[in-house]
Amino acid sequence: MSTSSAEARSQDRASATPLLRLSKVDKHFGPVQALTGVDLAIYPGEVLALVGDNGAGKSTMIKTISGIWAPDGGQVYWDGKEVHVRNPRDASALGIATMYQDLALCDNLDIVQNMFLGREPRRFGLLDETAMEIAARKTLSDLSVTTVRSIRQPVGSLSGGQRQAVAVARAVLEDVRLVIMDEPTAALGVSQTAMVLNLVKTLSDSGVAVLIISHNLVDVFKVADHIAVLYLGQLVGTYPAGELDTQRAVELITTGALGGSSAAEGRK
Ligand SMILES: Nc1ncnc2c1ncn2[C@@H]1O[C@H](COP(=O)(O)OP(=O)(O)OP(=O)(O)O)[C@@H](O)[C@H]1O
Ligand SMILES: [Mg+2]
Repeated sequence: MSTSSAEARSQDRASATPLLRLSKVDKHFGPVQALTGVDLAIYPGEVLALVGDNGAGKSTMIKTISGIWAPDGGQVYWDGKEVHVRNPRDASALGIATMYQDLALCDNLDIVQNMFLGREPRRFGLLDETAMEIAARKTLSDLSVTTVRSIRQPVGSLSGGQRQAVAVARAVLEDVRLVIMDEPTAALGVSQTAMVLNLVKTLSDSGVAVLIISHNLVDVFKVADHIAVLYLGQLVGTYPAGELDTQRAVELITTGALGGSSAAEGRK
């Protein structure tokens, strides 16, 4: 959980336009209503954690934002304007980068190649390897990623945390405005988890919004400014992280409410 900069962001929030806003979004799979009337807002530079029990609809929500599923109803706004994100390319054109658990990196290519895949700079018709190496090195160092031995190492030889770092670096090079991470630390050890959480902080400090799904509430409280709780496909509320603790978060996740108390004022 966070610091004075998070408080400042909270104060900004009342007047600011959300970067992304979902309004009354529905999504069903046959008879299964995966999302029902979901309202959610995420602001520039904010870390919003999305929590909820298995099957609550978290992955469905981010797949809807990322253009993998079309919503059945509701509206999506980007910078205050309604948008229709029909496929992942539309999402990436807006500046949304989504990192799924099984990261879409090519194991046989090296770090530089992965970071520039599909948008390699050219010079006189040839790949500009030097420019790519310089940019790759600078981006990793800006992100304080220091454990990678060589940027010419195949990605298949990296640890889980290092792979996350390469994916984040790729996103940063794309000028993203919203990074979505589904369980980025689930398979990671202590120091790799710390590295990924640091990356999240670095991104948000640079004004990028981060939407992070995690079952690990310790991680959530370490990085989140706000916490959005999904329960059986419905948004219970979005709470400033400082207004929740682990016990209250668990109660919201498992029951969809806080017993007898209306203390936490969810931001819808
Ligand atoms: N492709 C699909 N086809 C049919 N049903 C689906 C599909 N994807 C998700 N669902 C259903 O939608 C509901 C929400 O699933 P979702 O994967 O969004 O949950 P989740 O919150 O990400 O859970 P977890 O924490 O286990 O990852 C579940 O009931 C699930 O069975
Ligand atoms: Mg999921």
